[in-house]
Amino acid sequence: MSDMHGKTLVITGATKGIGKAIGEKFAQNGINVAFTYNSNAEVAQNIANEWEAKYGIKARAYPLNILEPDEFKPLFEAIDKDFDRVDFFVSNAMIYGRPVVGGYGKFMKLKPRGLNNIYTATVNAFVVGTQEAARRMEKIGGGSVVTMSSTGNLVYIENYAGHGTNKAAVEAMSRYAAAELGEMNIRVNAVSGGPIDTDALKAFTNYEEVKAETVKRSALNRMGEPKDIAGTVYFLCTDDASWITGQTIIVDGGTTFK
Ligand SMILES: NC(=O)c1ccc[n+]([C@@H]2O[C@H](COP(=O)([O-])OP(=O)(O)OC[C@H]3O[C@@H](n4cnc5c(N)ncnc54)[C@H](OP(=O)(O)O)[C@@H]3O)[C@@H](O)[C@H]2O)c1
Repeated sequence: MSDMHGKTLVITGATKGIGKAIGEKFAQNGINVAFTYNSNAEVAQNIANEWEAKYGIKARAYPLNILEPDEFKPLFEAIDKDFDRVDFFVSNAMIYGRPVVGGYGKFMKLKPRGLNNIYTATVNAFVVGTQEAARRMEKIGGGSVVTMSSTGNLVYIENYAGHGTNKAAVEAMSRYAAAELGEMNIRVNAVSGGPIDTDALKAFTNYEEVKAETVKRSALNRMGEPKDIAGTVYFLCTDDASWITGQTIIVDGGTTFK
């Protein structure tokens, strides 16, 4: 595997869940991490301190609201002051609660405002974040971008129409990005996760049901954990994945087929 030491990951939403597991996986491998938080500033600072102490890397946390795409430019300018390069960008953060009202629900209850918020948080955040990252990757001869998707765009999940359609959209957008950024030696892929036990899933009104159904459907007879996703995202950023671009890798414990 290529030497990843001294490279820099930028990842959105790494205070908990899948984003935190991804950030830690990169930190363990000697990669500096610039990550964002939204509501959990103190938690974010503690994570940055912990990763620096444990893994001897540089870690910094920055505020970001993915519902405000204009925040990405100043975010990356702040990152430029602390880090000399951007090698990897992972678009991971996701909204839940109030902003998804009208977007999370049954088809007949969907409302344009909630749906638009999910589009902004999913597709716009990927586009503007990747544009900023790509400008920096181009200067160092290339890089790798990964967006988080979900198998809820392939299989029915109750109340998930708004998220599922936007995950399908971000997968399609990542293929367009891959086709056009390849000339800068930037690879772009999506990782589509099956249900993973995080706060976002706990926010589902039928969380216990989804969890039980996941265990039942999984070929491995268990629920997915954040670290189940992190390894694939990391792999996609290494040179071992040098010929993989414009793809969606499904990481679902076998739940989608069963
Ligand atoms: N959990 C699953 O079953 C599952 C399955 C497949 C794919 N995914 C995808 O994986 C990604 C991570 O999901 P997760 O389950 O790990 O979520 P999570 O545990 O709820 O974490 C969400 C992260 O997003 C941040 N965030 C929330 N609102 C934000 C906003 N308005 N602006 C910027 N950041 C915001 C949070 O920061 P603060 O803590 O600072 O507020 C947190 O770091 C998402 O793209 C999700 O769709 C999840």
